Amino acid sequence: KKPSLLSGKKVLVSAGPTQETIDPVRYFTNRSSGKMGFALAEAAAEFGAEVTLVAGPTNEKINSPLVKRVDVTSAEDMYKAMHTYFEESDIVIKAAAVADYRPKVVYDQKVKKKEGNWVIEMERTKDILQSLGEKKTRQFLVGFAAETVNPIEYGKAKLKKKNLDAIVVNNVAQEGAGFQSDTNIVTYVNEKREKQLPLAPKKEIARQLFRLIIQDMKDESL
Ligand code: PMT
Repeated sequence: KKPSLLSGKKVLVSAGPTQETIDPVRYFTNRSSGKMGFALAEAAAEFGAEVTLVAGPTNEKINSPLVKRVDVTSAEDMYKAMHTYFEESDIVIKAAAVADYRPKVVYDQKVKKKEGNWVIEMERTKDILQSLGEKKTRQFLVGFAAETVNPIEYGKAKLKKKNLDAIVVNNVAQEGAGFQSDTNIVTYVNEKREKQLPLAPKKEIARQLFRLIIQDMKDESL
């Protein structure tokens, strides 16, 4: 029998894209499938944690009875759900790809097509990770970074700025990494280490990430 590395711990994971409404039939979204976040939720449950999975619109399914799934649609919904479960959590991982912008005006009726271009003004959404970093007490807070240029450097800057305990950087320009694929290639970064995890199924990457997180949490409590 496997040792239960996370028994007694509460883990909060965000997964998938968000959808930002334009009108009743249109929205903006991104290419996140939810696979990375769902793999993290499953791995945490496998290690014996009590898991809450806040999921944007995705086709992924979760089977474990140890995972409580909370479905959300927009970045604003995700913000609220993450803050609802943050306080009680020990480990919080943000694998979701949250929209940075949303339409400033949301139409109640379908917008009719007409001659010429349609310009949609976009406004910033709240930065969920930043707001959790500001609120953090005992939680071990982990962000993800999807970058194509200088990913490690950019990840390190984000780690500091958002008051994170670790950041998982995926270079989404690499084959087999990032959005939609069943595999990923990541680097786990914080002040103590910069650990590269080579190409592997997202579930296996998730297990390795929890091993690193548990190690770092132990070190902190010495
Ligand atoms: O879902 P998959 O298809 O399996 O793909 C996985 C993934 C590539 C989406 C995932 O591994 C990943 O990298 N997720 C983060 C993607 C992302 O949006 O990165 P970012 O650099 O834009 O954001 C950095 C961090 O801030 C993320 O933890 C994000 O959740 C968070 N964020 C971003 C914007 C915002 N308004 N609020 C946030 O909390």
